Amino acid sequence: MNSAVPVIAIDGPSGSGKGAIAHRLAKKLGYHILDSGALYRLIGLAARRQEVAFADEAGLARLARGMEIEFVPTDDEEEPIRVMLGGEDVTVAIRTDEAGIDASRVAPIALVREAIKDLQRDFRQPPGLVADGRDMGTVVFVDADLKIYLTASVEARAERRHKQLIGKDISVSLHDLFLSIQERDERDMNRPVAPLKPAEDAVIIDSTSLDIDEVLNQVLALVAERIG
Ligand code: DC
Repeated sequence: MNSAVPVIAIDGPSGSGKGAIAHRLAKKLGYHILDSGALYRLIGLAARRQEVAFADEAGLARLARGMEIEFVPTDDEEEPIRVMLGGEDVTVAIRTDEAGIDASRVAPIALVREAIKDLQRDFRQPPGLVADGRDMGTVVFVDADLKIYLTASVEARAERRHKQLIGKDISVSLHDLFLSIQERDERDMNRPVAPLKPAEDAVIIDSTSLDIDEVLNQVLALVAERIG
């Protein structure tokens, strides 16, 4: 681990906008980006493809250690990175709802989380890293130069997701989205291993009534103050 290289950790629940903020911030600063959620999605996908049972914790950890992955930045705001697994572009495959469910089954497994700790830390390369996830500031990069915990009300996150899906011509009820986000929060925040919570030294930003530029400006002001 190269502790001289600055890290900005951005954690928070799904739908808080942290992915979009992390990408914009990384682009603005010329930093590398770690989308740690994509790693759990990749492990889920690889497990399905190689028929490793979700109950086989040691098998999943082995699989995670052997993954050959690459994140390729793009200029597309909708798809800012392409995700490669063993040379195959799996960007679309890891973003399906099924892949999200598989990711949420492998993510609570301590052996799996341990197996990808070093892989995540290897992303810390000059000139800096923006790390997006649930435990970036609490577990993986405890010495991060800046820790942001980005959150928003369940209602606001359900509305954002609803808008996104409508834009893709997918119809779902706002109420169902609300319930599923609430349920996911509950699971992420109450799991015994690496539960979702703000690091003690995190700056909490509530984006409920802020747009993406307003959040980005707040984060950039903090970066200027802490990292220069
Ligand atoms: O952010 P996402 O939806 O791509 O995350 C996929 C799953 O991985 C989700 O269940 C939360 C989990 N996750 C995690 O446990 N720790 C992280 N650092 C990132 C994601």
